[in-house]
Amino acid sequence: MTDTDTAASSGATSADAPSAGVLAAFEAATGFMPVDEGLALYGVAAEAAARTGLPLLEVGTYCGRSTILLADAARRAGVVALTVDHHRGSEEQQPGWEYHDTSLVDPEVGRMDTLPRFRRTLHAAGLEDHVIALVGRSPQVAAVWGTPLGLVFIDGGHTDEHATGDYEGWTPHLAPGGLLVVHDVFPDPADGGQAPYRVYLRALAEGFVEVSVTGSLRVLRRG
Ligand SMILES: C[S@@+](CC[C@H](N)C(=O)[O-])C[C@H]1O[C@@H](n2cnc3c(N)ncnc32)[C@H](O)[C@@H]1O
Repeated sequence: MTDTDTAASSGATSADAPSAGVLAAFEAATGFMPVDEGLALYGVAAEAAARTGLPLLEVGTYCGRSTILLADAARRAGVVALTVDHHRGSEEQQPGWEYHDTSLVDPEVGRMDTLPRFRRTLHAAGLEDHVIALVGRSPQVAAVWGTPLGLVFIDGGHTDEHATGDYEGWTPHLAPGGLLVVHDVFPDPADGGQAPYRVYLRALAEGFVEVSVTGSLRVLRRG
């Protein structure tokens, strides 16, 4: 499937594209999501928010790069974006690992803390009022959550334990017709870790239907 197919099959239209200001804020933010995947995420988030009228939820806030897009899609539909993170970083972001950023270490605590950068990012984008930041471990937050969701975006820990915990914790809260979006899905192990791919396969086996593919971003709809 191509990116053109993505727009057609997701129901996204040019009206589902971010403004130049929101796109610039996204591009300036610290994070990992490429622009083509961000545009696809924005399109399906805007569609899901408008169609369901329900909150959009992200697992894996980091410094707020993808959150900017969910926040603006939520703002346009009059709903709210929720974003969950313990803000201590994933395994691959710890000291000595490939994605470690020394500027994100709290010197007093001696551990990663992405919350201050996230807050500054959202403030600069003018989107603070459209986001609820949930600071904690994803399965713990999911276990006490009680509101149906229009979209669940999984971009948290990339081990099997964490990716599976995100899937099992949050998909029960997804409304019928709601969208499940999984980032970093790599069918070929040479391209990346396999835990998100295994979550994606499990979702298909459990009745989700594929809506679109953009890079490593997979969008599925709950049947
Ligand atoms: C790949 S980053 C998210 C990237 C972000 N979506 C972006 O666009 O730049 C993954 C994030 O998930 C968080 N994380 C990992 N495991 C978690 C867990 N079990 N509960 C909450 N957050 C978790 C990490 O702290 C990290 O900030």
